[in-house]
Amino acid sequence: MPDLATIIQAALSERFGERLEVDAGLSGLDEIARVAAHRVHRRYLARDIAPDLMRLLCACALSAPSKSDLQQADILVVRDKVKIRAIADLLPEMPWIAETPVFLVFLANGRRLPQISKIRGKQFPNDHLDLFFNATVDAAIVMTTFLRTAEAVGLGCCPISVIRDHAATISEMFALPEKVIPIAGMCVGWPAEKGGITPRLSLNTTVHEECFAENFSEVEAYDQRRAATRPYRNQREPERFGRSEFYGWSEDKARQYAVPLRADFGAFVRAKGFKLD
Ligand SMILES: Cc1cc2nc3c(=O)[nH]c(=O)nc-3n(C[C@H](O)[C@H](O)[C@H](O)COP(=O)(O)O)c2cc1C
Repeated sequence: MPDLATIIQAALSERFGERLEVDAGLSGLDEIARVAAHRVHRRYLARDIAPDLMRLLCACALSAPSKSDLQQADILVVRDKVKIRAIADLLPEMPWIAETPVFLVFLANGRRLPQISKIRGKQFPNDHLDLFFNATVDAAIVMTTFLRTAEAVGLGCCPISVIRDHAATISEMFALPEKVIPIAGMCVGWPAEKGGITPRLSLNTTVHEECFAENFSEVEAYDQRRAATRPYRNQREPERFGRSEFYGWSEDKARQYAVPLRADFGAFVRAKGFKLD
């Protein structure tokens, strides 16, 4: 069995195409190894997750840092098979939703803070974009922390942002009040397969030293590196864009965003009472 430093090095080399130095004397290498080897899981065993374990994972997730300690993120836990089926039926292109024993919805809660102000008899002159932004950022951090904690106990997760294609329906389904919106759902289950590491853009593309330095020079090499281990099975809309001899990440993402996606989300957020100015 290779030591943890070697395992981390191998995972990050597969991810970024770069050999990173890992000091074998660092503490917390087991946690770093788990983070480095992250992968989403989209196939689950027909095995439940004990309510006590879910409660523990929610508690850990909500231990995440929170902007000004405002605590504007909530987690909605869905176990009811009928409700999970109803969500899955909205999204037939994602059959893993129907398989999940637990479905979570991570909520940006911009409601609690103004309500607290009211209870404390204070004005709330902060009903603007920052309320939406702070609550959304907090909810994203809580979601990530949930995923990390769940992976630590051997669970597999897959965030599901496409529930926002049906934001109004989801909102109604779970009785979300004004200023409470879903940022993403999440499938959580015991993995039915190991899954694999998805390569990311090189660190020279996404890590900036001292000042921002835009760099597209390594995108093509990334397309090639990624295709070597995670080739796309299908090309998007070949009837519109033609069939590419080589089909990499950049072509896929450019095609994906060549059509309007979720253009009505701003209207939904405003209708839920957030002011985006
Ligand atoms: C905010 C967010 C939303 C996502 N939404 C979906 C989704 O709707 N459906 C899905 O199958 N995967 C979804 N994913 C998973 C990504 O596709 C996945 O993280 C990405 O392909 C990289 O794979 P990896 O996490 O295994 O490295 C989402 C991930 C994030 C962070």
